[in-house]
Parts: sequence; C-alpha cells; structure tokens
Amino acid sequence: MDDNASLPQRVRLVEVGPRDGLQNEKAIVPTEVKVELIDRLTRAGLSAIEATSFVLPKWVPQMGDAAEVMRRILRKPGVRYPVLTPNLKGFEAALAAGADEVAVFVAASETFSQKNINCSIDESLARAAPIFAAAKAHDVRVRGYISCVLGCPYEGTVPASRVADVAAALHRLGAYEISLGDTIGIGTAGQTQGLVASVAAQVPIATLAGHFHDTYGQALTNVYAAMQMGVATFDCSVAGLGGCPYAKGATGNVASEDVMFLLDGLGIETGVDMTALRAAGQYISDFLDRAPASRVARALAARDATPA
Ligand code: HMG
Ligand code: MG
Repeated sequence: MDDNASLPQRVRLVEVGPRDGLQNEKAIVPTEVKVELIDRLTRAGLSAIEATSFVLPKWVPQMGDAAEVMRRILRKPGVRYPVLTPNLKGFEAALAAGADEVAVFVAASETFSQKNINCSIDESLARAAPIFAAAKAHDVRVRGYISCVLGCPYEGTVPASRVADVAAALHRLGAYEISLGDTIGIGTAGQTQGLVASVAAQVPIATLAGHFHDTYGQALTNVYAAMQMGVATFDCSVAGLGGCPYAKGATGNVASEDVMFLLDGLGIETGVDMTALRAAGQYISDFLDRAPASRVARALAARDATPA
C-alpha cells in the first residue's frame, strides 16, 4: 500500500522567520537586516512571508520597527506579507503601513493568554471581532493563530476539544485560515493527528495550517502526521530561527529548509528554490553569528564544503 497516496500534491509554506524567529532575539536586529532577509525570502519563491508584528514595543522591543520594515521591503505581486495584530490599535497601524493581510492570535490556554496578551481567551476573541470587521471593510485577509494547541508551558495538557472550540470561534469571525500552534513544540505525531481530527470536525480541514515549534525535535514528524490527515499549509522558519518570548525554553519553528527537503523527497510542490532559501538562512545566521538550526542546511553546507 502506498501511504503517500493521500498526501497533498502541493503544500503552501508560510515563512515566519522574520517575525516568529526574530521576535525572540534579545539584541535588536537592525531594520535593514530584517528587510534584506525578507527580500531574500521573496526571491527564494515563498508565497507568504510573515514580516513583522504590530504589538506593544514595550512587550516585544524587537518588533518596534514594524512600520519601517513594511515600508522598506520589496513586495512582489502575488506574495503575501502578513503581520501580527493583537488589537484594533495594532490593526490600524498595520493598515497605515500598507498591510493587506493580518493575523490575530489567541490561545487555547487561559494562563498563556494572560501572559502573552494580558487578557482571557474570551476577551481575546472579543478583541479580535472589531479587527475582523475593520479588515473586511478594507479588504484585508485575516489569519487566526491558536497557541498551546498541544500543551501549555503553564497548564500542561490542553484538551483538543478546547482548541476545536477556539478554532470554531475564529472561523465564525471570518478567519480564512487557522494556524494550530504547538508553541512549546511538545506534541507528538499521534497527538497531532488526534488534534487535527478534533478541529476538523468543527472547521473545514482546508482552512487549517500547522505551526510546529521544534523544542522536542518532533516538528517535522508532526508536519508529516498532519499532512497524512489532509493539512496542506505549514508555517516554517528559515534556519529554524526563533522561539516565543512568553514560552520559556521554546525553540524556533520547524526549519523551512527541513520541511522543503521532506516535501521535495515526497515530490510535493512548494514553488520554493532550496538554494536561495538556504542562502537566506545563511545570511541571517551569519548576522546572528551562529550556525543555522536547520539540520538540512548544515548537512548541505558540509556536503558543499567537501571536495568531490
Ligand atoms: P496591554 O498593556 O494590556 O495593552 O497589552 P493596553 O490595551 O492596556 O494598552 C497599554 C498601552 O499600550 C496604551 O498606551 C495603548 O495605546 C498601547 P498608553 O495609553 O499607555 O500610552 N498599545 C499599543 N501600542 C502599540 N501597538 C499596539 C498597542 N496596543 C496597545 N498594538 C497587548 C496588550 C496585546 C498590546 C500586549 O500584550 C502585546 O503587545 N502582546 C504581544 C505579545 C507578543 O507579541 N507575543 C508574541 C507573538 S504570539 C506568538 O509568538 C505565538 C505564535 O507564534 C503561535 C504559536 O507559536 O503558538 C503566533
Ligand atoms: Mg510561534
């Protein structure tokens, strides 16, 4: 039997390195480096690049140059550059900076919600409602994130039914896509499949995306497990950049290069050029003065450095 027969033919990758990756860097990365990284990712063929977030700079100083980043990037027609907006104030700033796609972010854990955005889950959904209304009026697409879908750093286990309820609420509000965030990268393949089954019982599976952090080394396996269930959109972070400032010890998202290697091996199209993607990862890793966290990037660099 061919286990791969049910896998999608094409996968949409949402590159989140410039936001989810860089937001966790303590030292401020200069705006021109962020812009160069995003421009390189555009040239690598990614069709969605999460560029920055319009959050409170006091909470996440690294994203304090959001408007400037949006002003300076070279936007390629057909490529989306979503930005995070926690409230109407953030949305208005994003709109003024020319954003045509935003992402609201809520959690499936009450404690994480308080720590991350200073309100309860219900309050966060109520805060999201006017963003959806304003976005509709301005023809802006809204993506929804749910954090802690496979576990919370403060509460531990998070029931899949609660994630499904939050997903249903975001779907009702008008989210075109709902990204399921394993914020602390603790979920395993079986849990991932159970979660996708629970959520897909309430919202169409075509509207789901996987957002797997790699803290426990399970992210790539979870991508595959979710693909087997029919999920065809995944968030990934070039060079495996990142973490979350409100989830202690969490590492970056699954590395974009590693996901691409998996998908290439399965003959699944992404439209992304691996050489250009690796070069973008090397660019930011050189700036940060560390090796890429991507295993594939490191292996290919070692191969290229070895004389034939
Ligand atoms: P708050 O302090 O409760 O906000 O923060 P407030 O409404 O009380 O306002 C306080 C002050 O901030 C006011 O100014 C507001 O105007 C101003 P004042 O009157 O005192 O002069 N303010 C703002 N300024 C700029 N931009 C704004 C904004 N909003 C209010 N948007 C808030 C609430 C949500 C704003 C804050 O908690 C915040 O910014 N949180 C963001 C935290 C964050 O960025 N976390 C990381 C991203 S989420 C993530 O990484 C998870 C994800 O990757 C998925 C996964 O992995 O699970 C997406
Ligand atoms: Mg994340």
